[in-house]
Amino acid sequence: MKKIIITGGAGFIGSHVVRQFVNKYPMYQIYNLDALTYAGNLENLRDIEKASNYTFVKADITDERFIHELFQKQQFEAVIHLAAESHVDRSITDPLAFVRTNVLGTVNLLQAFKTLWQNNWEGKRFYHVSTDEVYGTLGETGLFTETTAYDPNSPYSASKASSDHFVRAYGETYGMPYVVSNCSNNYGPNHFPEKLIPLCIHNIIHQKPLPIYGDGRYTRDWLYVIDHARAIDDVFHKGANAETYNIGGFNEWQNIDLVRELCRQMDKVLERTPGESEELITYVKDRPGHDLRYAIDATKINQELGWAPSVTFPEGLAKTIEWYMNNQEWLNNVTSGAYTDYYNEQYSGE
Ligand code: NAD
Ligand code: TYD
Repeated sequence: MKKIIITGGAGFIGSHVVRQFVNKYPMYQIYNLDALTYAGNLENLRDIEKASNYTFVKADITDERFIHELFQKQQFEAVIHLAAESHVDRSITDPLAFVRTNVLGTVNLLQAFKTLWQNNWEGKRFYHVSTDEVYGTLGETGLFTETTAYDPNSPYSASKASSDHFVRAYGETYGMPYVVSNCSNNYGPNHFPEKLIPLCIHNIIHQKPLPIYGDGRYTRDWLYVIDHARAIDDVFHKGANAETYNIGGFNEWQNIDLVRELCRQMDKVLERTPGESEELITYVKDRPGHDLRYAIDATKINQELGWAPSVTFPEGLAKTIEWYMNNQEWLNNVTSGAYTDYYNEQYSGE
């Protein structure tokens, strides 16, 4: 059985990737390595935790000795690397945490993989999951392609850009087989409510203010998380060596329009008067260095690997709202304790 290690598998996207691989590929032995930070939650994987081809390992990717010993012991043939600090606002208050996990952690994994295989790379692959934020910001027009120059603006995107460069450098210098994908903003079940969509769903349910940074005219390109997991499956199995694939849904929304749409759908679900939730919209202090617009050109992955999103945005948003409505215990659990401190600190100027 081929042994694959997936890092960050208890997080938002990682949990959907782990589920996709465990269910679809019984011939793979999947190891999910995760430090279970505030963003990691084993509740996300309850349905597959007893599968015979699944093992969970609680560990920090920066733990040099542990990671090297684990790789030697288990002889992993492939790495799918998602573990990261992932929230831009947190990177503004604590950049070093992002350098530690996203840069040092990634290099530690690369080094453990290299030491294990000693440049004997036949049948091996290091898959690095990255973000479109490494390209910086777009103006009103244009799209990010795989050849757009890196131009990161936040400590988060700078740390991800750095990790992308290290992966490429291990390919060039040591011949390590690798592939990288850069995806746009994800949404869907299990999304931690520090990010825009789940935060607004949570606040609409509890009739709390919906904080819109600046004038709300910032644009993001949203993709349903299960479609990202399907894309990762395709890139892992069919992506060419040393290539980058951009992943996105050709689905741009200005934040204010997106939040209004969310309010509209949630008024229906919650049987509130149309327009009631919109009254919660509150403009707050802007994020420093806020990127104006992200938009992905996903032509390459579509034409070369045959991937395309499977759900439209209205369908994906409806499924997401339904999931949060049916999983309010999950939402209550992750918003108790430390979340309140984070929230009060982040939105104190409201
Ligand atoms: P997330 O914050 O929900 O999950 C990150 C996971 O990594 C958590 O389970 C956490 O416990 C784990 N982790 C953090 N530090 C760790 C460490 N030092 N050692 C081991 N585990 C650690 O993030 P996400 O949104 O699921 O993102 C996953 C990956 O996808 C990240 O690499 C991110 O950069 C990338 N990405 C995210 C998006 C998005 O919209 N969320 C878009 C494109 C790319
Ligand atoms: P976010 O979900 O944090 O993702 P990213 O910064 O990685 O794109 O934010 C999405 C957009 O929503 C971004 O333009 C910032 C904005 N935003 C708000 O207006 N208010 C909020 O409370 C949050 C968390 C984000």
